[in-house]
Amino acid sequence: MDSSDELRKTASELVAKGKGILAADESNGTMNKRLKAAGVEQSEEQRRALRELLFTTDGAAEHISGVILYDETFGQSTADGTPFPSLLGDLGIVPGIKVDTGAKPLAGADGEKITEGLDGLRERLAEYYDGGARFAKWRAVIELDGERPSPYAIGVNAHALARYAALCQEARIVPIVEPEVIMDGDHTIDRSEEVTSAVLHAVFDQLHHQRVLLEGILLKPNMVLAGYGCSSQPGDEEVAERTLHTLRRHVPGAVPGIVFLSGGQSDEDATNRLNLMNRMGPQPWEVSFSYGRGLQAAALETWRGEPGQVAAAQKQYHHRARCTGAARRGEYAPEMERELSASA
Ligand code: 13P
Repeated sequence: MDSSDELRKTASELVAKGKGILAADESNGTMNKRLKAAGVEQSEEQRRALRELLFTTDGAAEHISGVILYDETFGQSTADGTPFPSLLGDLGIVPGIKVDTGAKPLAGADGEKITEGLDGLRERLAEYYDGGARFAKWRAVIELDGERPSPYAIGVNAHALARYAALCQEARIVPIVEPEVIMDGDHTIDRSEEVTSAVLHAVFDQLHHQRVLLEGILLKPNMVLAGYGCSSQPGDEEVAERTLHTLRRHVPGAVPGIVFLSGGQSDEDATNRLNLMNRMGPQPWEVSFSYGRGLQAAALETWRGEPGQVAAAQKQYHHRARCTGAARRGEYAPEMERELSASA
């Protein structure tokens, strides 16, 4: 298969109807923070055990098309020795890999960040492809605070995202392009829309300049929300409408899919808003998910590192995957949340 056909095929598998992506690619630092908050020992074994719990959940593959892994997890196996990428592949789930090395302070821009990881990326991508990865993720972090973000920070992050995307496609790996506008702070939804628009505009400009095949990427954006500390919070309908409106203005129809991040919204908000967007008629691209916390948080809280809690935690994860998969088709109803308590 030629390279652009392979990219198109992988991208369309990832946004198959009713399915979306599990982002299980927390760096060790982030995962340790989550484990600590749940009262779990912060060790390589516990990070592995949580991932095994998620990946071996019966029936999750009906709702999950791909899983993004972190480098450590990519090299780990189930307790009985099956490497995680092979386990996922055998379940019909596409293995993916986070390849950025994190957001670092941007020189000359007080308090702003630039995502690193381009050095040696071509060689790392070739190794990940050989290990079974068919898609990748790079997350740019854009924070809102007063005058920030600066056009400088937006510009360099967009440039790096496009360099990463071009290298991925050269390696036959579908790049998930993730410019995350962070929703911490007290900004209004108007400001969120303004910044999200500026960021998407800069990103697609750079993707064009750097000759990235739009049919072979997925975009992972934030929803357009008011900052979590803003006193005026929009309803879910307004979030869904403003988000689609912003994306339609800035994301070319050649892009096969939008896969939202959950970004700290409650599980039900993240699910309901995705559902509403999928009910608002056909869009130029598939409207799907790539949730981290939105799929895992309840399972982690239930598990708490206790082997006896694995089955109950898997039930939680399966429930969220099922609800989010339904939202992907516009078929979620809040009553579905009660089905878990009824069966627990
Ligand atoms: P959340 O869904 O928890 O925001 O994580 C998605 C992700 O991969 C952020 O990079």
